[in-house]
Amino acid sequence: MANRTIIITGGAGFIGSHVVRLFVNKYPDYRIINVDKLTYAGNLENLKDIENRPNYRFVKADICDFDAMLALIKDEKVDGIIHLAAESHVDRSIKDPFTFARTNVLGTLSLLQAARTCWEESGWEGKRFYHISTDEVYGALQFDGKLFREETKYDPHSPYSASKASSDHFVRAFHDTYGMPTIVTNCSNNYGPYQFPEKLIPLFINNIRYRKPLPVYGKGENVRDWLYVEDHARAIDLIFHKGKIAETYNIGGFNEWKNIDLIKVLIKTVDKVLGRPEGADDDLITFVQDRAGHDLRYAIDSSKLKSELGWEPSLQFEEGIEKTVRWYLDNQEWLDNVTSGDYQNYYKSMYKL
Ligand code: NAD
Ligand code: DAU
Repeated sequence: MANRTIIITGGAGFIGSHVVRLFVNKYPDYRIINVDKLTYAGNLENLKDIENRPNYRFVKADICDFDAMLALIKDEKVDGIIHLAAESHVDRSIKDPFTFARTNVLGTLSLLQAARTCWEESGWEGKRFYHISTDEVYGALQFDGKLFREETKYDPHSPYSASKASSDHFVRAFHDTYGMPTIVTNCSNNYGPYQFPEKLIPLFINNIRYRKPLPVYGKGENVRDWLYVEDHARAIDLIFHKGKIAETYNIGGFNEWKNIDLIKVLIKTVDKVLGRPEGADDDLITFVQDRAGHDLRYAIDSSKLKSELGWEPSLQFEEGIEKTVRWYLDNQEWLDNVTSGDYQNYYKSMYKL
């Protein structure tokens, strides 16, 4: 369908910026509207390369602002929404669960209700509300080889995953109750450029570079299933266009790593790229108190996405990690701006405020 107008929420964040870039480059006939509140995690520097493109518009707004969402969807005749805006960091959710309930639950509801109000009037035909969620809603696996499937029962443990589970239920409820054309996807841990350095991989790359301690929670035994962020963005593009309405798709890399093993790969790769002798930074590993409610293992079965839509991850993990390490080491200014808070001035200068 040519000439679509799509809102991508959270487009100034980590995954959102990759999705916005992909859509702006790949679909010159679409109008892509990036709606982002620019919290600490929102950084318009992530989108410098496409910010002046004619098919791109940035709108600074809070998804919880129902009137603003309603006006935007109506005025711009939006026919698709790809919803990524969220509070995304588990450790923050443990300290401040209210912010997570507000944005992830009420914000999603506000966006759904605004879309419903406009689309019921103009007709559901050609409309699509695509909600991006996480594998954390399924809870924790044991070391028994089982994988999360689309039918796996929800069992969230952290305030973050509880808020995402709630938002998933609201999205499905809007399909079942009002007939809204919705899709939900649940993805595993993403890694790659532009991730806020509170998350394991960018935080540890930066710490290794400056020879700072690497705080490993518990014994480092927890397992995560890692996917390169551009592969997630490709899946989102495919599912937005070809996915079946009311379906859920799991997205993952079939790429499980114990944290401690992954951290050793990070140390080895950073040391190799910086020309340091092998083993030079192994002593940075510092075991610290475990995260409260720390889920033992996540692992996604994404075979439905492969068999129905032909999607597969394109990058081998070693390749993706080396690419990622090089990106953070080559983009020290980006990291410095993020860690100092200077990136938040970018919006003001870019938009002359
Ligand atoms: P992120 O924290 O990097 O970015 C979130 C973005 O949302 C930021 O730009 C922020 O400014 C914006 N935002 C936050 N609250 C907002 C509000 N009230 N109104 C408008 N914008 C707001 O997050 P991410 O890691 O890119 O994750 C994006 C989405 O993908 C989230 O929904 C997350 O749950 C999901 N997800 C993430 C991962 C992962 O590994 N990072 C994996 C699976 C699913
Ligand atoms: O599984 C998908 C989820 O992955 C997304 O929904 C979340 O938005 C995203 O943040 C991520 O959650 P995790 O909690 O798995 O990611 P994080 O990078 O915070 O931690 C990865 C693992 O590393 C986890 O087991 C906790 C551990 N860890 C993390 C940090 C920040 C440490 O041992 N030390 C640390 O300092």
